[in-house]
Amino acid sequence: MSNNFLRLLLVGFLVGLAPANSAIFPGRVFDRFISIWLENQDFAQVIKDPDFAILKRYGILQTRYYANTHPSQPNYLASVAGDHFGLNHDESVRVPDNVSTIVDVLETRGISWAGYYEHMPGPGYLADFSLDANGTWDYVKKHNQRGESPATSHFASFDSINKNGTCLAQLRSFEAFKRDLAAGTVPQYVMMSPDMRNDGHNTTLEYATKWAREFLLPLLKDDKDKNSLGKERTVIQLTYDEADSYDQPNRIASLLLGTGVPKSLEGTEDATFYTHYSVLATAQSNWDLPNLGRYDAAANVFQFVADATGHANRDPANLAALDNSLSYAGFLHNETANQLPVPPPNLKLVGAGGQGVLPMVQSIWKELAGEKSPYDSSGNVYDGKTVPVYRPQE
Ligand SMILES: *[C@@H]1O[C@H](CO)[C@@H](O)[C@H](O)[C@H]1NC(C)=O
Ligand SMILES: *[C@@H]1O[C@H](CO)[C@@H](O)[C@H](O)[C@H]1NC(C)=O
Ligand SMILES: *[C@@H]1O[C@H](CO)[C@@H](O)[C@H](O)[C@H]1NC(C)=O
Ligand SMILES: *[C@@H]1O[C@H](CO)[C@@H](O)[C@H](O)[C@H]1NC(C)=O
Ligand SMILES: *[C@@H]1O[C@H](CO)[C@@H](O)[C@H](O)[C@H]1NC(C)=O
Repeated sequence: MSNNFLRLLLVGFLVGLAPANSAIFPGRVFDRFISIWLENQDFAQVIKDPDFAILKRYGILQTRYYANTHPSQPNYLASVAGDHFGLNHDESVRVPDNVSTIVDVLETRGISWAGYYEHMPGPGYLADFSLDANGTWDYVKKHNQRGESPATSHFASFDSINKNGTCLAQLRSFEAFKRDLAAGTVPQYVMMSPDMRNDGHNTTLEYATKWAREFLLPLLKDDKDKNSLGKERTVIQLTYDEADSYDQPNRIASLLLGTGVPKSLEGTEDATFYTHYSVLATAQSNWDLPNLGRYDAAANVFQFVADATGHANRDPANLAALDNSLSYAGFLHNETANQLPVPPPNLKLVGAGGQGVLPMVQSIWKELAGEKSPYDSSGNVYDGKTVPVYRPQE
């Protein structure tokens, strides 16, 4: 491991020294989005927690937010690619580079992005986990290593990201976050995971919410001199990868905070239907971005953003079937009987940004434009019981 480690660290350093892109592409509603992921709690438990209740006073509680499936890892992947491709486990996976992600979408407007992972040993570190001074593993790319499972990185499994030095340099540690915050260079689109203790995976709900309160309260100050995030309208989402119970439709707690949330909405609740695909649709609506041609295209947009952009949200027509607890068949499913090829995106979809499918996706998948696709404009939700329906692209 140490050879690999050194090589990756070196790659990280070589590409990591590029000057930070400080130009801001303004959004219609906010200029920066930071999503912070804790692990494995049910909505009903989280909202009873005193530290969470303190944070709730500063923001919007999203009361009908559902993780996409179990276990952890597929939810992290879904939030950047618009599908989890049937993933039903936490073992190491790789997603081929013909699957595009939100990174490619943001690139069309030069919107900066990063993933910050606590205890990631260096920029672009790609091994499965890292050890702290006492020999326990704390950062985890996804799990498996020791039988346990906390999937931590949203981005590192995608070949379109992990084979590209510029992208790898955007996968950084919490120390780098502190430096970027001080320098006023935190990118515009950010996913973050604290380590396995602070995210609650190896600890408790209370341990993680206490960490979240201490981490977040200083960032919420609307003081442009003391808090570099205050210079731009910043929305900070505190969310969970999945519910703890497997016997319910995977309802999680999600809170929207920060200077990008209208003051009049502080301490309120929003009962719009959301899944992890909604972060993609919200970014697309805010920055007038193209979509990936997958489940991102018809996902609901965070309501206060939709209100400002004129986007119409709706419940999925098949809401009654909502379960989101078991993954459908796909190329990342670990059972032979449930293997399917990478589905073609639906190249005809128009997403929440009012734009069509990303030109890069159009070009990669053009040969399969005549094939059936599981993605449509219905906003329906699918799982191992209500499986995706393949239809002609339209
Ligand atoms: C698939 O993953 C699940 C969850 O980790 C595990 O219980 C099951 O044994 C795995 N099946 C195969 C065929 O590897
Ligand atoms: C996408 O990549 C996978 C893995 O390399 C390959 O099996 C599949 O045929 C590719 N699909 C297209 C449309 O290029
Ligand atoms: C290692 O363990 C000691 C004793 O429990 C503790 O004080 C220290 O904070 C630990 N170090 C890390 C990096 O967790
Ligand atoms: C978390 O738990 C796993 C397995 O139970 C253990 O191997 C690992 O060292 C723990 N990590 C921390 C940071 O506590
Ligand atoms: C690597 O990523 C950067 C930033 O997203 C992009 O501009 C560049 O085209 C990518 N390079 C390759 C070879 O895909």
